[in-house]
Amino acid sequence: MNENFSAPLPERPLLGLLTTGGTIAGAGNTPAQTIDYQAGVWDATDLLAAVPGLTAMARFRSEAVAAIDSKDITEALWRKLAARAQSLLDDPAVTGVLITHGTDTLEETAYFLSLTLTGEKPVILTGAMRPATALSADGPANLWNAARLALSPKARGRGVLVTMNDEIFTAATVTKRASYRRNAFTAERGGPAGFIAGETIRFFHPAAPGALSFALPKAPLPPVVILYGYAGDDGALVRAALHTGAKGIVYAGPGMGSLPVPVEKELLAARAKGVAVVRASRLTDGLILSPGSPAPQNADAAASPKEEAAFIASGSLSPVKARILLQCALAQETPLAALPQIFCQASSLS
Ligand code: SIN
Repeated sequence: MNENFSAPLPERPLLGLLTTGGTIAGAGNTPAQTIDYQAGVWDATDLLAAVPGLTAMARFRSEAVAAIDSKDITEALWRKLAARAQSLLDDPAVTGVLITHGTDTLEETAYFLSLTLTGEKPVILTGAMRPATALSADGPANLWNAARLALSPKARGRGVLVTMNDEIFTAATVTKRASYRRNAFTAERGGPAGFIAGETIRFFHPAAPGALSFALPKAPLPPVVILYGYAGDDGALVRAALHTGAKGIVYAGPGMGSLPVPVEKELLAARAKGVAVVRASRLTDGLILSPGSPAPQNADAAASPKEEAAFIASGSLSPVKARILLQCALAQETPLAALPQIFCQASSLS
């Protein structure tokens, strides 16, 4: 007699599944429809049913946090998502948490959660480039990979991760680079954190210790705007940002976060009024450094000494992520003088 037949089946691990909408839950009128479909139609039951074998691998405790196109994500939804995810993570019965999300702002939600969730358990975001009803739907495979990653001990202690198209990304570096292709995601200023191939889950580097963590007060995050630099920028939008009450400005300048002379003048005036100013870049590769930072060999031209005193360098963060970090830091009433070090830490430059 095979003893296995009489042994009780091992209990399947429990995963949290928070759905927010997006293309992964999108529905079109025909299997050929891959654009102009409606995002956020399928619920968690539909999503799980579309992945053969998924519910044999794990049990799921699911909740719809939203059913939106992710262009419409708000700070209120981020906070709700963070609260629901943290409550699942705090439950000893839960092994990890999956979050399905539209791809358009997935990187921003992932980064916000990475700064605000605590604990060692995996939190995995995924989405899809093709709606659930399409012949070429990529959501089922992405959800399968996300579940496998959430169940893997290798994913513990790595903060919030994203998996798309068999690749694994950190929240800090992941970005969407293509509007339509299924391999739409990449890692800015570095490569993916790892990959999934069949049964194999491989990370390229050990988990990095010392992640930043913010306990946010209930008040709304301070307003921070992103200004996109361009040839001939006369700085008028810096003045407009101050007019709207911005407490922070992220300037996505050309090259290594360079500032056209009129813009630099306006930003210095903003800084003198107590507004936090971050120099970021329109580029998707290379670090944005302050003079005196540990520079890579091929660093571009250094910023002026005036900037060094006044502005924060975004390091490895894209403008959208620099904005979120600045908002979280300002929400905790971090003194302006301490902000450069926080950005260094976020970029692992210190
Ligand atoms: C969205 O971001 O909600 C729509 C696009 C997508 O998920 O790919």
